[in-house]
Amino acid sequence: MAYRTYRGERLSKIGVGCYGVGGAYGEKDPQQYVGVLRRAAELGVTFFDTADVYGPGEEVLGQALAPFRDRVWIATKVGASESGKPDCSRAHVVASCEQSVRRLGVERIDLYQIHFDDPCTPVDETVGALEELAAAGKIRYYGVGHLSPARVAEYLATGNVFSALVELSGVARGALRRTAPLCRARGVGLIAFSVTGRGMLTGQIGPDTAFEPGDIRRLDPLFQRARRASGLRVADEMRQLGERYGKSPVQVAIAWVLAQPGVICALTGPSTVAHLEENLGGSGWTLDADDLAALDHFLDTEEERLRREQVDELRAILQSKTPGEQPFADLVYVLETLVELELAEETEVIPAFQQLWPQRADPDPATLAGIRAALRERFLSTLEGTACQSLACNV
Ligand SMILES: NC(=O)c1ccc[n+]([C@@H]2O[C@H](COP(=O)([O-])OP(=O)(O)OC[C@H]3O[C@@H](n4cnc5c(N)ncnc54)[C@H](OP(=O)(O)O)[C@@H]3O)[C@@H](O)[C@H]2O)c1
Repeated sequence: MAYRTYRGERLSKIGVGCYGVGGAYGEKDPQQYVGVLRRAAELGVTFFDTADVYGPGEEVLGQALAPFRDRVWIATKVGASESGKPDCSRAHVVASCEQSVRRLGVERIDLYQIHFDDPCTPVDETVGALEELAAAGKIRYYGVGHLSPARVAEYLATGNVFSALVELSGVARGALRRTAPLCRARGVGLIAFSVTGRGMLTGQIGPDTAFEPGDIRRLDPLFQRARRASGLRVADEMRQLGERYGKSPVQVAIAWVLAQPGVICALTGPSTVAHLEENLGGSGWTLDADDLAALDHFLDTEEERLRREQVDELRAILQSKTPGEQPFADLVYVLETLVELELAEETEVIPAFQQLWPQRADPDPATLAGIRAALRERFLSTLEGTACQSLACNV
């Protein structure tokens, strides 16, 4: 295992996380992760991540790492209340920390991260609570989760933030444009998550791979439409590059993440020892500068192509007279893609998300049609303007 020293702390370049324990990637026996987490610690991983909302993720991590406690970092997260609504109030942060400490079976949390944005609580109240917990010895450091760049900037300006969590892989590079520059300006490191592209860059996923009910990839835009096709082209590029180094596609994917400036640690969440061991082979070697530059060029070109295809797709979904085969997933795709392509602010799409999300179990066609009509009214002209700009670039 390779290590990186950041703010005087020596951390393994690859960290292991527990998102899957709660069933995010399909139902699993939580105990399956105990062996994976212990094997990771035996192989030198020192950074482990979980959250209060990853099902039994805190209990499982605490149980697995008890024999290794003096040599590992345990990171967890706070920010959702019992009802699922974001809550970063002082009272909630302090009470949740107490519960996480108990579930993890530790005296102190090494890194406590703000998981969700709570627009009703001022950032200085949340930071005050985190400072209080640090002074009381309940946490060592605090960090921010994958919040909007504007919110990350507010936390960075208000508190002594240790790190920022960002989704980062060859198929999700937005954080390099949005959050990374803010962090770099303040000397704050990035903890990258979903570095295998949630499995997309492993070579195990194809155009027709289906996911079981409950697996977030049934709705995740990365696995839909043009985005899936693009992700598979990226995976294939990494496969070809890996062949020259004797590395698998996912090892190239992780090496690419570790080569990005500001990244302290690349987090992966395998549920088997075989996947864990493969992924740990993403550190301890580097891509040559020329290969890295060529890969970045490929990713830039791919991203530009995908942008054009997605603008066309969004227009087609919003203009369509019929709801299509996957009307709910398509609306999730539209909302997330509008933000991803920076055609809408997150705050602009949140009301539509709040209306949409309760429909996921049993969608009402009239409600979905209403959401689609409202989005058409608001965003169609933006999309048409964007399509014209792309055409202008192509002539
Ligand atoms: N995802 C988020 O939204 C999020 C947000 C904040 C923090 N985090 C933290 O970051 C950690 C890492 O993110 P992640 O869990 O999304 O990471 P990830 O490793 O990119 O995704 C996990 C998925 O990829 C598959 N996978 C991983 N390695 C594989 C391999 N070598 N071959 C085949 N399939 C492979 C896993 O399958 P198997 O189960 O079959 O191994 C699982 O379905 C999380 O566990 C969590 O602690 C995540």
